[in-house]
Amino acid sequence: MSRLDGLADRVGSASERLYRWTDDRFDLDAGRGALGKAFPAEDSFLLGEIALFSFLVLVLTGTFLGMFFEPSTSDVTYEGSVAKFQGETLPEAFVSVLHITYDVPYGMFIRRMHHWAAHLFVAAIGLHMLRVFFTGAYRNPREPNWVVGSGLAVLAMGAAYTGYALPFDEFASTATGIGYNVAKSIPIVGDVGAKIVFGGEFPSSATIPRLYFLHVLVIPATIGVLLAVHMAILLRQKHTETPRDGPVGTRRTTVEADDDSVVVGLPAFPNQAAVSAVVFFLTLATLSLLAGFLPVHNVAEYGPNDLASTPELIMPDWFFMWLYGFLKLLPTWMSVTIPVVGIHLNTEFIGGVLLPGLVFLALFAWPFIDYSEEPTHFTADPLARPWQTAVGVAAIVFVVIASIAGMNNILADVLGTSTSVVNPALVVALLLGPALAGGITYRVLSGDDGERDAGGRDPTEATGDG
Ligand code: HEM
Repeated sequence: MSRLDGLADRVGSASERLYRWTDDRFDLDAGRGALGKAFPAEDSFLLGEIALFSFLVLVLTGTFLGMFFEPSTSDVTYEGSVAKFQGETLPEAFVSVLHITYDVPYGMFIRRMHHWAAHLFVAAIGLHMLRVFFTGAYRNPREPNWVVGSGLAVLAMGAAYTGYALPFDEFASTATGIGYNVAKSIPIVGDVGAKIVFGGEFPSSATIPRLYFLHVLVIPATIGVLLAVHMAILLRQKHTETPRDGPVGTRRTTVEADDDSVVVGLPAFPNQAAVSAVVFFLTLATLSLLAGFLPVHNVAEYGPNDLASTPELIMPDWFFMWLYGFLKLLPTWMSVTIPVVGIHLNTEFIGGVLLPGLVFLALFAWPFIDYSEEPTHFTADPLARPWQTAVGVAAIVFVVIASIAGMNNILADVLGTSTSVVNPALVVALLLGPALAGGITYRVLSGDDGERDAGGRDPTEATGDG
């Protein structure tokens, strides 16, 4: 026996002993069934995993940042590497972000990584949601998981909003202030609610500590709990699967084309685990690349929050742009007072709460609008579902036009005109664009015979069942 063989034997028996020791305590064999669970070999099903891994990176990089960030607006004297602030009295939160960016080893890299992970998180959630929507994977029995997912989407936006405010620089604080005014505009409860969330009148000395608490504890913990529920429901109900072309031979048996009691796909371990590991490292590599080359929110350039001035250009992140668009398009005369009760609804409430509220209500309610009595195991072909696909296309066009409206000043600059000229055109586009896009989609798809191959990988690749 060679020396190498001897070493391999020793490692093998040590890992066997470790397995037996752990098995005695945790009954690992009982969990073996889960390792054989099948994952459909569908590339678009990996979008949810990208969201999951982005969240993991957010937690890890956020923990690093949390060690250096100071959630306080008390004045301190700056003594760091940025020459223009040397010796100046500045808010502590702002100073700590300068410190992370320019003085903490790897601080700038980790800060950028956190920023890009947040963007990838929201983008992956959006795309994952669209894949679930267009393949009809929200239908009976998966409506509860669609609702949990919608909650996760709202929380992801909440996490981004509260994080944006933390550096307490001039740009971010002004943008955060818009959120405060929107919260305050809610009739009856707005005043108190805004004060609770923002720690008094914005910006008060309690604003940053309060938003920090929400950003690092309340929101991530709630996301963690909802994610656990999301995954538990997924395991319990199994994945949807693209319709099979015919009977599929797996390692143990042959699965008939219409048998919806099992999933044909890759076993969770080791095949799917290996695929997920690749997705994880690709996510990490993409984020490292972005963090290495693309700068983020330049706090030194914007300077600390200054109550006496307003930056020339205020812009939220791209995923809030559609909400900003509502606020920009609504003319002030649209505010109304409800007779008898005398409650005043201003444009900030209508554009910032009422309209987005209706959009989110439609999102949560969608599986009950397109309700199916019968449980569905297989995914649908979007081209064979004219009205549902038309609604999806109309919704995308609506969000895109509202987002362009959020950048109306840039659009006006590009066209060499003013916002008062582009705004009416944007209102018309927002009302007609989605209807037109949806109508055309519906016409084109209903002219189709709907007989399509649902796509996906060759089912004969399948090796496991669940
Ligand atoms: C933090 C955000 C989210 C994460 C990390 C996440 C993660 C995942 C993962 C890993 C899967 C299994 C693989 C796949 O089908 O992609 C999944 C399935 C699912 N997700 Fe999400 N998700 C999130 C948000 C959402 C949202 C916003 C929705 C819809 C509004 C949603 C609805 C669903 C549904 C219905 C399934 C089952 C799909 C099927 O069986 O084909 N999820 N999710």
